[in-house]
Amino acid sequence: MTDLIEIKGVTHAYKTAAGALPVLDDLSLSVPEGGFCAVVGPSGCGKSTLTRLIAGLMFPDAGEVWLHGERVRSPRSTVGMAFQNPVLLEWRTILQNVILPLEIVAPRMPKAKKEARARELLAMVGLEGFEGKRPSELSGGMRQRASLCRSLVHKPDVLILDEPFGALDAFTREDLWQLMHQLRAEEPFTALLITHDLRESVYLADQVVVLSGRPATTQFVLDVPLPGPRPIEMLYQPQSVEWLATLRDQIEIAQGRKDEKIPA
Ligand SMILES: Nc1ncnc2c1ncn2[C@@H]1O[C@H](COP(=O)(O)OP(=O)(O)O)[C@@H](O)[C@H]1O
Ligand SMILES: [Mg+2]
Repeated sequence: MTDLIEIKGVTHAYKTAAGALPVLDDLSLSVPEGGFCAVVGPSGCGKSTLTRLIAGLMFPDAGEVWLHGERVRSPRSTVGMAFQNPVLLEWRTILQNVILPLEIVAPRMPKAKKEARARELLAMVGLEGFEGKRPSELSGGMRQRASLCRSLVHKPDVLILDEPFGALDAFTREDLWQLMHQLRAEEPFTALLITHDLRESVYLADQVVVLSGRPATTQFVLDVPLPGPRPIEMLYQPQSVEWLATLRDQIEIAQGRKDEKIPA
């Protein structure tokens, strides 16, 4: 089976007034169909750049991005995205916000069908009864739930999440982590999650990729071999504590605060 997301030796630099800014350097990673990959790395190392390359919003200077066995050469409607700031439109209701991607990728779908799909997702994330509200009438956690519905409404193959839980308080964040597992059980997608929260990466992903400092390359890959939904308590088990310590170590190496090999 081929991997659904394949990043092959991607190198990219931004052209700035001060010259080229190398951001990604020969970065490779792959995610199997239905997999959940978390990407962690120092601030400014190129994580959001990587998401734009996968979505086909930008193209790398060298290397290739493949989705579903096809090279990415243009933006894809088979990708759904959610960000730290949910960017919902205030002049639309929650239901109308969630429907938006369908208006773009499936303009001929009957309105009733679009609405039914959006309502189904909103119910799944606990927002039944809030369909007619405006974004400002919802809490931050509820807005992020609605934003997740919007990113999934057109049944994308690939879900890209760029720090979507970063601005939420700790308890709301844990609720949304559990919701992600539930959504994953109900909706088939392959996920790539950017996060700076190591606990979040271990709780949600089955593969955690640590990127080096800028220009970023794949520094370390941790497998989390736990299929299916996980109780939040798993984070306090010895195995998770060990994984978290390994990841913290790798982040310190990526930040240049620690040598890769410490003499015995
Ligand atoms: N459009 C752009 N033009 C020039 N530099 C950019 C642009 N976008 C991002 N950068 C720079 O590239 C580096 C990586 O950015 P980004 O991918 O957003 O990092 P991360 O998401 O890991 O924090 C940063 O130094 C950032 O300032
Ligand atoms: Mg970013």
